[in-house]
Amino acid sequence: MARFYVTTPIYYVNDVPHVGHAYTTVAADTVARWRRLRGDDVMFLTGTDEHGQKVLRAAEKRGVTPQGHADELHVRFKALWERLAISNDAFIRTTDADHQAFVQAQLQKLHDNGELYAADYSGWYSTSAERFWAEEELVEGKCPDTGQPVEWITEKNWFFKMSAYQDRLLAHIAAYPDCIQPELRRNEVLGYLKKPLADLCISRPKARLSWGIPLPFDPEYVTYVWFDALTNYLSALQGGKEAFWPADYHVIGKDILTFHTVYWFSMLFAMGYAPPKHVYAHGWWTVEGTKMSKSLGNVVDPHLLVDSYGADAVRYFLLREIPFGGDGDFSHQAFLVRYNAELANDLGNLGHRVLATMLPRWVGGVVPEAGPATDNDRALAATALRATQAFDTNVTTLQFRQALEALWELVRAGNKYVDTEEPWALNKRGDTARLGAVLRNVLEVWRIVGSHLACLMPGKSAEMLAKVGLSAPDLDPTLDRLVPGTPVSAGDPLFPRLDAIPAAIAELMAAAKLAEPPPEPKAKKAPKTPKPSSPAPDLPMSTDAPDATPTAPATPAAPVAPALIEYDDFGKVQLRTGRIVSAERHPNADKLLVLKVDVGEPEPRQIVAGIAAAHTPESLVGKDIVVVVNMKPAKLRGLVSQGMLLAAGGGDVAALLTAGADIAPGTIVK
Ligand code: MSP
Repeated sequence: MARFYVTTPIYYVNDVPHVGHAYTTVAADTVARWRRLRGDDVMFLTGTDEHGQKVLRAAEKRGVTPQGHADELHVRFKALWERLAISNDAFIRTTDADHQAFVQAQLQKLHDNGELYAADYSGWYSTSAERFWAEEELVEGKCPDTGQPVEWITEKNWFFKMSAYQDRLLAHIAAYPDCIQPELRRNEVLGYLKKPLADLCISRPKARLSWGIPLPFDPEYVTYVWFDALTNYLSALQGGKEAFWPADYHVIGKDILTFHTVYWFSMLFAMGYAPPKHVYAHGWWTVEGTKMSKSLGNVVDPHLLVDSYGADAVRYFLLREIPFGGDGDFSHQAFLVRYNAELANDLGNLGHRVLATMLPRWVGGVVPEAGPATDNDRALAATALRATQAFDTNVTTLQFRQALEALWELVRAGNKYVDTEEPWALNKRGDTARLGAVLRNVLEVWRIVGSHLACLMPGKSAEMLAKVGLSAPDLDPTLDRLVPGTPVSAGDPLFPRLDAIPAAIAELMAAAKLAEPPPEPKAKKAPKTPKPSSPAPDLPMSTDAPDATPTAPATPAAPVAPALIEYDDFGKVQLRTGRIVSAERHPNADKLLVLKVDVGEPEPRQIVAGIAAAHTPESLVGKDIVVVVNMKPAKLRGLVSQGMLLAAGGGDVAALLTAGADIAPGTIVK
């Protein structure tokens, strides 16, 4: 049995999981599931990156310990992976005790082997951004992130002799050209390696950053987060899974390519391990043509997609829409079009018309007997063989789009087969033997497609197979596997056709359009991928991004000239004052709070509001606010909202419109 080890990046625990995270994880899951289906022994790892400045700061802001903060937040990733049917074998957290012990053991080993040295590092330090900047990154001599003054400081740090591995890195990439994929990314790394490689600063003084793994040989320092994070891929194999190394695939986004190749390969050489067989860097999603960002309020929430379309359709769209490796745009319209054309029509039709009408009406609702093969049957069988082979090769090499294209050739061939064989005519003529044989061939195509989709749409695949009496995938590409006489059932359509973008998404899109994108911030966001080496000592510290990634300052959205309305239009909106009597977090959505609001009625109303980013539940109780009381009730993530509160602000709605406490709840506002 072949071993197969695939990983995703470990995601920053502070981040709210979005469609970009989902993309990488769905891709890794699909290949993991495929290899399991093919009989391999699979280890699929994902997890969360929990140390560093950002986590510490966020925890401090909330008044909790960083560990408590990470304990609370990491479950958001776990919950999303469950909803997306992710089949990871392990979930690692960098605060796990055995991970920390492993990192420390590796550091000690490197220290003992003379791979590390202490040296003074000097650079421009911004106290406000808590990071060093290279001279050329400063804006008018000030911190490009905060605009505050910077100071030249010198401090001792620990360095890894990464520069010693430059030749070995080049030799390794030359000997194993496909270790970095796609080729474009390999060339990018080779470009990076054209300049002399600097040594890597792998420590942070505890005085500046306490939330990290302490260096075992110098208690005044913690480990640089990337050293800690990358090592997860090895530490997760402790306790019996060591033989899975070297990993077959580290699936990552293109943003973290240098870390996963230059840094990680050198670290592995020094630690005495082979590099991973492949690092595959995929592209980035924009949303409706714009960079996805919190400040633009266009971050695509995968939960909302799953609520609207189901996990399998989301998985399908992500892997079908763009070639793996390229950049792409997430457009809700494109989603709808693909959903209807490829899932509801192509795939749905293939089974539905045969299962719902022809089989029960004409052949007793069971799998019919096969018949002698005609040329048309043989052509269909050849298509099945070709499509499944192409599917296998492409999923195995992470070419998901091509894999699906190949499989859909078979789906369409199946539909065409029905059209050309005209089972209705065979039925009319009373040619029951040929009618049975034809319908059976269609069922076989259905079985083959459904079985192959088990890696990509596990839920729908199981439904497809259950309709023809199977409880497990059968990948055999021949049209002769189903047992005659097995009862078949149509059940519900696989993917009901959608006439429009689902309401919850349409509302969000409309809301996002109310605000124009804020102007480009002046300060440039520091790239996560470090720049090619400039002469030491600037480089090591300027690779600091993960624990101090600067964020663009939030700029208020420019107001858009509104369309004018009549007084009567406004009169339709009934506003009343309301007093918040209780508030709690929504159990299934980070952005939402569930409020009970007294609007002068016998019972307080439940209002679900997207204000969790700017308000804690405790701070809201007792507030007098303004509520739209004649809003149609709506379900938000499973909870009914009976009204809407008024607030000012963009994505992270900040200011609630309040009424004076001396105005009784329920007073009309006009
Ligand atoms: N914690 C580090 C990774 C350490 S791995 C040893 C990190 N975390 S992250 O939360 O920022 O996740 C980055 C990854 O999320 C990207 O590499 C990519 O896999 C995914 N994506 C984040 N935004 C994305 C898009 N807009 N589009 C596609 N994928 C994106 O970096």
